[in-house]
Amino acid sequence: MKKPIHIVSATIVTVLLLSGCVTENGDRQTDMQLDRKVDSVLLLMTLDEKLGQLTLYTSDWDVTGPTIRPDYMDDIRSGKCGNIFNAHTVAYNKKLQRIAVEETRLGIPLMFGYDVIHGHKTIFPIPLAEACSWNLGLMKKSAKLAAKEAAASGLNWTFAPMVDISRDPRWGRVSEGNGEDTYLGACISEVRVHGFQGRDLSDPYTIAACIKHFAAYGAPVAGRDYNTVEMSEISLRQDYLLPYQKGIEAGAVTAMASFNDLFGVPATASKYLMTDILRDEWGFEGFVVSDYDGIDQLRDHGVAEDKQHAGELALTAGIDMDMQSAIFVDFPALSLEEGKVSMDDINAAVKRVLRVKFQLGLFDDPYRYFDESREAEIVFSEELMDHALQSALESVVLLKNEAENGRKILPLTAPKKIALIGPLADNQLDMLGSWHAAGDHTRVVTLLEGLQKKYTSTEISYARGCDFYAEERSGFSRALHLAKTSDVVILAIGENQEHSGEAASRSNIDIPGIQEELALALIETGTPVIVVIMAERPLTFPVLNEKASAILYAWHLGTRAGDALADVLSGACNPSGKLVMSIPENTGQIPVYYNSKSTGRPDDPSNKYTSKYLDVSNNPLYPFGYGLSYTIFEYGEVRLSDAIIGMNDTLEVSISVKNTGDYDGEEVVQLYVRDMVGSLTRPVKELRAFKKISVPRGEEHKLHFSLTREDLKFVGGDLEYIAEPGDFKVFIGPDSENLKEAGFTLKN
Ligand code: NOJ
Repeated sequence: MKKPIHIVSATIVTVLLLSGCVTENGDRQTDMQLDRKVDSVLLLMTLDEKLGQLTLYTSDWDVTGPTIRPDYMDDIRSGKCGNIFNAHTVAYNKKLQRIAVEETRLGIPLMFGYDVIHGHKTIFPIPLAEACSWNLGLMKKSAKLAAKEAAASGLNWTFAPMVDISRDPRWGRVSEGNGEDTYLGACISEVRVHGFQGRDLSDPYTIAACIKHFAAYGAPVAGRDYNTVEMSEISLRQDYLLPYQKGIEAGAVTAMASFNDLFGVPATASKYLMTDILRDEWGFEGFVVSDYDGIDQLRDHGVAEDKQHAGELALTAGIDMDMQSAIFVDFPALSLEEGKVSMDDINAAVKRVLRVKFQLGLFDDPYRYFDESREAEIVFSEELMDHALQSALESVVLLKNEAENGRKILPLTAPKKIALIGPLADNQLDMLGSWHAAGDHTRVVTLLEGLQKKYTSTEISYARGCDFYAEERSGFSRALHLAKTSDVVILAIGENQEHSGEAASRSNIDIPGIQEELALALIETGTPVIVVIMAERPLTFPVLNEKASAILYAWHLGTRAGDALADVLSGACNPSGKLVMSIPENTGQIPVYYNSKSTGRPDDPSNKYTSKYLDVSNNPLYPFGYGLSYTIFEYGEVRLSDAIIGMNDTLEVSISVKNTGDYDGEEVVQLYVRDMVGSLTRPVKELRAFKKISVPRGEEHKLHFSLTREDLKFVGGDLEYIAEPGDFKVFIGPDSENLKEAGFTLKN
């Protein structure tokens, strides 16, 4: 029966007013006010209504997991579902919100979640690519604009940022993260949360962020998605936790449990992760959502006997919201009777969910995200499209740029004839990348289009050449003919958008199919070949690397991909991206990462009995932090303010960087530290600071960094962060291998 909504809503408002919780002047709510509001609603709720608030179902729009619940609208109507994901647009979500607000007894508004990972409709580069910009302001702006567009489309919650550190490019989800380094990942986590949520969640241009996947999802054994994670607790805390913690400290109001198990307990059932660390150690006050079907999967993990048991484990561990398992909605009656869960457990979870709904302003106006004219104005607005270009420009990494006849191949200034070849050269869909939310591929500028706009007096001919996987070589002959009759070949090869992302692990990360064979045949023609690799993970391509004249690592750059690439290729933009994940020489080296330990037998080429391979070096093909520019940056010496510092002192570190090349350029100056002797073994270097600077041609910049004891800390044997006295080295340079160094001593 349809309920008289105005009376019901009035009930809530009356309770709020009586309890003195409604601020008349619209001031931001204090914690106490919030708690009183939440309590006043909780008082009105039946057990079933409470469980409905702990339930999140997908709509039938996008399905990002194994199950769907086709009758989700009835579930909303009956109060069994208080939150929806994978539904968007003002028109549709307004319709669903109406059901919740006007047809349920209490009229509690829905939250609408979605994977707004790198843009909503206007798509920015995949997060791994954008991280290569090392531009925190740019990444914050991407999150802010994605939130603006998503909020205008009826959403108020994104399942982002994903901040899983990963050292394994076989894992398809490296695309969503920020690479292999903990410090950089933590900085990015913080700014992305600020970007999504802004200063005030009740601002209808912001959305709730979700730190995921808690925890250590990026370290599955053998790089296989959803697999078990095996690591020491020291490594968990030293290498993996910081990005989650920084996101929580930045104010993220939600977090998502990961699928994997860790220390023998699936994260979804881990009280240690969800309560002891997240809430007790870090003070998290928001709610934790399970991942898709994660609660039911406790049965497959082999820790739950049945659904009821799974629900008990998850709820008592500290999971507040059930994504798609449909277990929280009906398990507790029996569990309460048997004393396996308490009403306090349920109330605590409901309060956390309601709290976020209040923070979003949904109780003030459940329709605040549903303004059609705002949607029309913001989606694909100039502001978003301009930013998509800027972000793409800063994400591209130049790996190789050889000279031919005394001149570097790139930038490509005035070619008469370009042969553009490859399955990604005139391709809209794959530019969007994985997790492209509601991205519209018809708005994508392809590389072909970008080049045609940029090189107006050049003849550009195009051939696809081959496909990603098919063994069909009939396209080779036209491609080779074009190569032979052109000044230069631009070859766009790599992965399509399904080769990476969730459930897209690969045991072999070579360039898929016969694309490399095509590349080598084109190089054989003698025409210079510029290879543009588009992918969502580091791929392995040692032979091609040796033979190609120039290589740009271009990822999947989003809606403005073609414009950005044309600007970089032509020199309108000087590339400045630096890798945030090492590119391995071969798959057998994985995991290969810059901050490894020395071992007791450090690699020594003249000594067989040292830590190395017989068939490949220990070094990656391209190291963390690497990326070329069209100009040349010369680094001076590392200067330190003191040779010895005390525990409370600050060490001033400086270096000069001069642009001695022919172009204005941007450089990411990286500072690493090594603790020479510790109570535990320490990595050979660890990133501790960086600055992205813009240096006009011929100019020199002096950079200053300050290091304190905080920067020298690590997780000690008793799991505390400690700085130990002793000798340290500071390294500064353009990447993690080419470094200038100086030493100092930290004294007690
Ligand atoms: C499963 C993924 O692991 C998670 O990242 C995503 O947010 C949910 N599905 C919802 O789509």
